[in-house]
Order: sequence, then structure tokens, then C-alpha cells
Amino acid sequence: MDGIFDSISKEIKGLSSRLPKEISNVAIPEKLKNPPLWVKISLGTTALSYAYIRYSWTAMNDWGIPILTPSLLTFGTCGHYARENGLVELADEELRAKNRKTVGFYRLLSPVVLSVDVDLLTPIFTTHFGSFTNRQPDIGSFGMGKEMSKMMDVLADPKIWRRVRQSVSPSFSNVQLEKMMAVTKSRLDVLVQQIKDLNGESINPRTVSGKYTMDAFLAAAMGFQMDLASIKDFDNSKELKYFNEILTPGPQIFLLFIFPGLGSLLDKLDIKIYASKAIRWFTGYCKSMLAADTQETEQRNFLSAFKKLRISDEDAKDATKGLTEDEIISQIFVLFGAGYETSASLLQWAIYNICKDEELQQRLYEEVKDVPEEYENLNSKKLPLLIAVLNECLRLFSPAIFQFRYCDHDVVINGIPLTKGSNLEVPVDYLHEIEEYWGPEAREFRPDRWIENPALEKAPFFIPFGVGPRNCVGMRFAHMQSRLGLMRILKNFKVQFPSDFVDDIKKIRTTAFLANPSKEIKVSFLPR
Ligand code: HEM
Repeated sequence: MDGIFDSISKEIKGLSSRLPKEISNVAIPEKLKNPPLWVKISLGTTALSYAYIRYSWTAMNDWGIPILTPSLLTFGTCGHYARENGLVELADEELRAKNRKTVGFYRLLSPVVLSVDVDLLTPIFTTHFGSFTNRQPDIGSFGMGKEMSKMMDVLADPKIWRRVRQSVSPSFSNVQLEKMMAVTKSRLDVLVQQIKDLNGESINPRTVSGKYTMDAFLAAAMGFQMDLASIKDFDNSKELKYFNEILTPGPQIFLLFIFPGLGSLLDKLDIKIYASKAIRWFTGYCKSMLAADTQETEQRNFLSAFKKLRISDEDAKDATKGLTEDEIISQIFVLFGAGYETSASLLQWAIYNICKDEELQQRLYEEVKDVPEEYENLNSKKLPLLIAVLNECLRLFSPAIFQFRYCDHDVVINGIPLTKGSNLEVPVDYLHEIEEYWGPEAREFRPDRWIENPALEKAPFFIPFGVGPRNCVGMRFAHMQSRLGLMRILKNFKVQFPSDFVDDIKKIRTTAFLANPSKEIKVSFLPR
């Protein structure tokens, strides 16, 4: 420690010899010349920490990509994480405006590669998956406490994640989805009647889509029914209030990204950093669902499937299939949490964009009006325009703001020597709008592009559900739910903005990651 203090003193002496005489002649009090031990220790620690931070910020120097200059004030380059639209603005300023595909920055000390280069991101998500099995450093339950720490999306141990994913995936098979579709249709009957009861009074399409995706998910996936007298009651329901609290974390959530390990430490201590009351309510709700669904029923849903796979904590250590009780609760939450808002957001934007274009709406109606609501009809052969509209919404209003991966092993990809602990972030809004990939009308809502070029659906630059082994496990459920829901709405209603609605809507990104409208949208559903 004295060595460090001596070298700092030498630096200061060197500096003072270059100062003007009147300043260098000022007498330094004896106390300051020989400071107490605690001052020496503090100065030494500060100097060491500073040196370590500066050293860490050289990690990407020879990666051959431009690097944003880090600063202590912004924890490296982290200011954008806590700002509304911050992630989008960073990509716009540093990639779009400068016409480049990749840039590096530091998330506190961790290197982050922000990129829309498919030659870099595709191998990371697919062929090099073994080095990138996680999305982020072990973040635990996102600050939701111990009971939620086994959710599939945050499981950091590849062995446990694989077992959980393999146990859950069969619930999304065609046979299962067909069964869930029958239940979804019956919940749509209720929804359509509730919309008719509005007698043309305008309503926020997010209320309609939210009520549908929450109700249909709970019924089709868990075998539970949500009974509301009117669709308008949905916005005031206790369930919605709690779910919104859980699904809308504050900026404090970014502390978990910035300080690796903090999330799992909080889980171990069972500390929740937000919405603790709502989480307690949800966990209790899940437990009662698990306890209530004791009889074997004809209807197969996620809950009954998971219960059959139940194993003890002890057996789970060596098992390749099966779920412990905690894991079942965590999966119920993540399937619901990852599925409800994303699909509701998608349908909201679809209704909004259909309202904007009467001709498009008429074409859609002509397409869907005689197509029976069967599972095998929900594809682009039978419903090309409907699927084109949903794809165009997934492209321009992607529910996920960015895709990300965490590097587990040193590996060179596309010439970049990524090191263990570094990260990839893909700003989806920009990726989905790059002219080089999408053509000159990249930023326009033009569903016909999907009909003219069906190959776009498989393009590496269209990734609303992610890519590779860790992509969205619920994608097929989301397709079934959104295609069926939109088809039923179009068959039964003409949608339009009420006369007093001014359409100056912009897409904004909140810290909850979703694409939100800048103000409440209003739509009248007129029965056909
Ligand atoms: C429009 C609807 C949806 C969109 C756009 C969407 C998007 C995504 C994205 C981008 C990811 C990350 C993928 C990656 O990192 O490569 C993801 C993961 C996930 N999604 Fe979805 N999702 C949707 C609906 C659903 C539904 C309906 C469910 C469940 C019923 C679901 C469950 C999950 C789960 C559990 C994960 C984590 C998978 C893992 O870590 O293995 N999602 N989703």
C-alpha cells in the first residue's frame, strides 16, 4: 500500500514542480504531508480501482470495431438503459446515423457488442450456441425473488435449462396446440359478445387484445376461466393491476445487467426489488392452481402436462426430463408473462394498422370471411394477407426491443475475438428497418412485401422470436393465438378510429421493452 502511496506522492511532486511559483510555494500543512493510515488506504484503493476500471476498458481495443468512449459518470456507457427510448436512440445515433453495423461499448466493465450484422449474430445464436447458451450473465429472477428464479428464460445452468426446456417444449406440439385452439375459440365467443355489447362505443384496442390473450392463455394453457361481466372491467381488474406491476419493472432492473451476480445474490437472500406484493399474489395463485387441478381431465393443458412431469429436487440433480414443484411455478409464470403482453401488443398494433387502411381491411375481410377456424388453416397458403399483416407488425413493432447473448467461452466470430464475459446486443428495431436488407421502403408499413417475397419470413434479419436453440419456446402458440384472434375480429367487426381520434401515434420503447403507442389508441368495433 505504501508503494502505491509513494508513487502517487511522486506524481503529485512532479506536478507541483510544473506549477507557477505562487502556487507551488504555498505551505502544505504537516497533517497533509503525512496523512493517517486510513487516508492512505482509501487513496490506494481508489487508485487501484481506477487503474482496474481503465484497464478493463481496454478489453475491446484490438477487436477491430469502433468503441464508444466509456465514462465513470455513465458506468461505462449505460445511460441509455434507464432512459425511455434509450436503447433505440443508441442504435439510431451510433449505428443508423453513422451507417455502420457494429459498435462496442462497456456495460460497467463488461464488453458489449451492439450489432445488426447477420454475419456476426447468426453464428452466435446458432452454430456457436455452445459458447452463448445464456442471454445475460446470471441475472437470477430479474429481482422477483427466490420462487421465480427457475424461470426458463433466466436459467443460467445449461444442464438445468436443457432439462426444463425439453420438458416444456412438447406442450407446444401440433396436437396440443389444436386442443388449446378449441378452448381459445370458446373464449373468443365470449370476447366477441362483449365487444358487441359495447354497441360501437370506442375502446382501446389494447384492452381488447389484452383481455383476449390473458383470458385465452389462462383457459387454454391452464384450464382456468376469467369471468368478467364486461370487457371494460378488464382494465380495472385486480389481476391486470398485479400483472402490470410485475411486467413493468422500473429502471432499477438495469442494475442487474450492470452488476453481474447481483440478481442471483438477491434471489439467494430472497430479496425482491419490485412488485413484491404482486409477486406474492401471483405465486399464491399458481400454488392454488396447482393444488386445485388435482383430477385427471380430458382437456390437456400446460398445467396438467407439467404435473405429470413432476420430480423431486433430489431426482432433478441427474434427470434429463422432469420439473420440480418450484420449476413448475416458475414456468407457469414465465409462459404467462412472456406470452400475454407480447401477443397482446402484437394484436393491438395489427388492429391499429388495419384501422389506418380501409382498402387493406376490405382485402383482409375478403380473405378470412369463408375460411373455417381450423388449426390447419392458420398458415400463409390459406391466409397470406393476414399473416403478412402480422409479420409486418412483428417487424416494425417487435414486442422484444432487443435480442441478446452472453459469451461463456473465448471464441472468434466473423473476425471478432469475443472473450468470456462479453455480450452481444441486437437492436431489433434497427435490424428490422435496415434498407440494405429490406429495401428503400424499409420503414413503411407495407404487408404486401411478405406476399411478394415469402422467403423474408426465414431471413436472418427478421428475428422477432429470436433464433437458434434458445429462441421463443411459445412461438407456435403465439402464431395460433394471434392468427385466430385477428381472424375472428375481422370476420365479426369493421374496425375504425372514432371521429374525435387524432392519429399522431408514435412507437415508444419503455423500460418494459415493449413497443408502446405514444398515447392511448381508440377504436370503434362495428358489427358486420
Ligand atoms: C408475439 C408473441 C411473442 C414474441 C414476439 C416473443 C418473443 C420472444 C423472444 C424474442 C424471445 C427471446 C428469444 C431468443 O433469445 O432467441 C422469447 C423467449 C421466450 N418466450 Fe416468447 N414471444 C412471444 C410469445 C410467447 C408466448 C405465447 C410464450 C408462451 C406461451 C412465450 C414464451 C417464451 C419463453 C418461455 C421464452 C424463453 C425461452 C428460453 O429461454 O429457452 N413467448 N420470446
